[in-house]
Amino acid sequence: MKTPFYVTTPIYYPTAAPHIGSTYTTTIADTFCRFERAKGREAFMLTGTDEHGEKMVESAAAQGMEPKRFADQMAERFQSTWDTLGLEYNRFIRTTDEDHREAVQYFVQRLYDAGAIELRDYTGLYCVGCERYLTDRELVDGKCEQHQKEPEPRSESNYFFKMSEHFAWWRDELERRPELVQPDRYRNEVLSLLRSDALDDLCITRPTERLTWGIPTPWDENYVLYVWTDALVNYLTGIGFPDHDGWEERWSGAHHIIGKDILKPHAIFWPTMLHAADLPLYQGLHVHGYWKGIGDQKISKSLGNLVDPLVMRDKYGFAAFRYYLLREMSFGTDTSFSEEGVVRRVNDDLANDLGNLLNRSISMLAKYFEGVVPDPPADAELAETSERVAAEVDAQMQSFNTQRALAALWELVSAANKFIDEKAPWKLAKDPAAADALGHAMYECLEVLRITAVLLAPFLPETSPRILESLGQPASSERLEGAVRWGGLPAGTQTVKIPALFPRIETE
Ligand code: ME8
Ligand code: MG
Repeated sequence: MKTPFYVTTPIYYPTAAPHIGSTYTTTIADTFCRFERAKGREAFMLTGTDEHGEKMVESAAAQGMEPKRFADQMAERFQSTWDTLGLEYNRFIRTTDEDHREAVQYFVQRLYDAGAIELRDYTGLYCVGCERYLTDRELVDGKCEQHQKEPEPRSESNYFFKMSEHFAWWRDELERRPELVQPDRYRNEVLSLLRSDALDDLCITRPTERLTWGIPTPWDENYVLYVWTDALVNYLTGIGFPDHDGWEERWSGAHHIIGKDILKPHAIFWPTMLHAADLPLYQGLHVHGYWKGIGDQKISKSLGNLVDPLVMRDKYGFAAFRYYLLREMSFGTDTSFSEEGVVRRVNDDLANDLGNLLNRSISMLAKYFEGVVPDPPADAELAETSERVAAEVDAQMQSFNTQRALAALWELVSAANKFIDEKAPWKLAKDPAAADALGHAMYECLEVLRITAVLLAPFLPETSPRILESLGQPASSERLEGAVRWGGLPAGTQTVKIPALFPRIETE
């Protein structure tokens, strides 16, 4: 038995509605889970909202609301957005949930009891946008680079996690096990941070005289826990830590998906916290780049140039937008978003390559064979490509790369389109001596379509069953490995014509 697959998204700050960034992370996490399930592995997906900290207090106040009421409203908005888009999580965690408060307090108490925490005086420059003190090196012209704001000088007594005691261990671990932080550029970034002297111990509390909107520090009522201390533990709470059965097994298959903006908390704070608490590490941290807007500007709440996934859905359908997200971003690097890009992907890949392959195959079958699947050839020309592509899709998904997985899958679609052009069934149909050749050619196209649909299901869960339906096939309940084997489409199956999968989008 393989360990269950456990995938997490960041828990988003519900200070603004979901946008392209949070939608992207949630969509790829959903896709990885569906892929593992298709392979017969149990999979659990966690997402949610990060509701404590100063930023939430400020945002709630700006709306004239108490933080909790604001959080309730916004968490509901996140959840209903994911539900509307068909993104399936197993738990939606809110850091204001009761079991989370208990888990966090248990976790930090464990650090405290292990002697990993001490009280210290501290003076530093605090960025409210980042919810943390910045080091001098992180400032550009005296400003936080990300939020374009000067941090405020602050001085206070706080509890510190003696994080630096764990750097040597973590560096060794990361050097030994490259898969822990991927792609490599981010692993290298973390390693060079660890080799530099830019890192220090971590302040993990805020005095209650300044902030009460947080989880109380269990051993000292004068402090609440720093929002990041609280937030990271969600990955444990979500699977039942500390006292529900089975959390350890789930944890042993844990993969975190994050954007590069939160690399440091996930690749420095979190592993060292786990180590200090004597808990096992995650299996992989998978870091993607930013979606950028016009002129390569960052897309973010603070800059106000968000792309609303519900608007994209109304305009193009979520399957199209989802395909664009999964196909367009090269995992790890930044990508520019544009609606022209979405239209191009829909027209080229979905309407043209895939849609036409289905449409012309089914139409020709109707014309030449009354829609009934003919006998398969003994030596199918496309069988090998099919097998190679199925293996490549799997390999790319094991490295969390949806872009390359889909690029591989489209090689199969293109091979089938090229095959039709070369075989020219319309010519074979005119030659009575070529009846077998015509049947064989048709079988190959249809079988490629079936295999494509099976492989496509985790990526486009709405589209795959429509293709299968057209092929007279049930939405596959078989394991992926078996379902992608060549020859699964039975001769004699009645196919049906369906409306265009993705109508072309006409722009003026
Ligand atoms: O950082 N491109 O929450 P957050 C790609 N609460 N992804 C983007 C993006 C963009 N332009 N903008 C946001 C927090 N994201 C913390 C996390 S986890 C224990 C706590 C995505 O609302 C991406 O996944 O600022 C990024 O890491 C996350 O949203 C940050 O969400
Ligand atoms: Mg952010």
